[in-house]
Amino acid sequence: MLDDARILVTGGCGFIGSNFILHLLERYPNAQVVNLDKLTYASNQGSLRDVEGDPRYRFVQGDICDGELVDGLMAEVDVVFNFAAETHVDRSLMEAGSFIMTDVLGTHVLLDSARRHPNVKRFVQVSTDEVYGEMSPGAWAKESDPLHPRSPYAASKAGGDAQCNAFFETYGLPVIITRAANNIGPRQHIEKMVPLFVTSAMRDEPLPLYGDGRQVRDWLYVEDHCRALELIAREGESGEVYNIGADNHEENIRLAKALLQLLEKPLSLIRFVEDRKGHDRRYAVDSSKLRALGWAPRHDFLSALERTVRWYQKNSWWWEPIYAGPFRDYYQRQYGDRLASGAPYDPEGGTPQ
Ligand code: DAU
Repeated sequence: MLDDARILVTGGCGFIGSNFILHLLERYPNAQVVNLDKLTYASNQGSLRDVEGDPRYRFVQGDICDGELVDGLMAEVDVVFNFAAETHVDRSLMEAGSFIMTDVLGTHVLLDSARRHPNVKRFVQVSTDEVYGEMSPGAWAKESDPLHPRSPYAASKAGGDAQCNAFFETYGLPVIITRAANNIGPRQHIEKMVPLFVTSAMRDEPLPLYGDGRQVRDWLYVEDHCRALELIAREGESGEVYNIGADNHEENIRLAKALLQLLEKPLSLIRFVEDRKGHDRRYAVDSSKLRALGWAPRHDFLSALERTVRWYQKNSWWWEPIYAGPFRDYYQRQYGDRLASGAPYDPEGGTPQ
């Protein structure tokens, strides 16, 4: 399926997409990869500088909503991985239109083009565990569960998933949907919690922890995610959904403390700030279906976190320019007032109620 395939990766200058392209080119010497990326604020061409001159790799700047451009590329490939998406929950609370455009309409344009190109033998839709909504303690989402997205971002991804299902049922398009947990690792935009906290700590700036900091996420190392996607593309069944979770569940407060320890920075950098609206308390997926294909994560929570922290320490060239650009305005809008009225961490008193 992938050995000498021509592969279209959308959103390849983003976090998971760029890691996946590097993974593919390393693992498949005869594969050809086309990266279609719009170069939004979340893209970083520096992520792929090591493969820029590789004859197996081609970059095309463009939007997945552009049907003509997509048709041209679709005619040339065997496999599609759709990573292109607006992905940040907090931004979707400020403005959701771009999420609907890319995650819903863009996915539709890709699917509609793929169904008219029988050369496309596999379409992998990279989705998220957030489509299941918040999980109560002890509950684990299975692939067959109904979707209950609770943020505009999650709703846009659920819209993309629903279309994938429709294109499989209606046209027999060989689509597979994957729903992964929270990824961490190299090349993630600093708007997300882990890179924001790591780089803030390195700059001796406060870590804005939402609410009581007791929300739980499952931390999946991006390389483990890439291996899962590769396996699913090769061995998965069309029309199926595969959850991808590492079972590295941890509360945000514990994660913040662990990363401060790795960086040898004081806990006093933690600042409890006003919570995210509609904040999902916990995500948890049952990934036994994927594990039955032979996948298991290679990184536990601490190993994933340590590798991530060390990467940001070594690669300030990658993230420092982001702080100097439009991110500054976003940061001010998102965190300015919250940090001003936030409460510092009190080692005696624990977390605020
Ligand atoms: O679960 C998969 C999802 O994980 C992906 O589909 C999303 O694209 C990705 O952004 C991520 O969503 P989260 O909302 O869980 O990730 P984020 O890094 O924004 O937040 C992680 C947790 O940390 C969440 O409980 C909110 C909290 N948080 C986040 C930020 C940015 C804070 O306490 N402070 C912050 O400044």
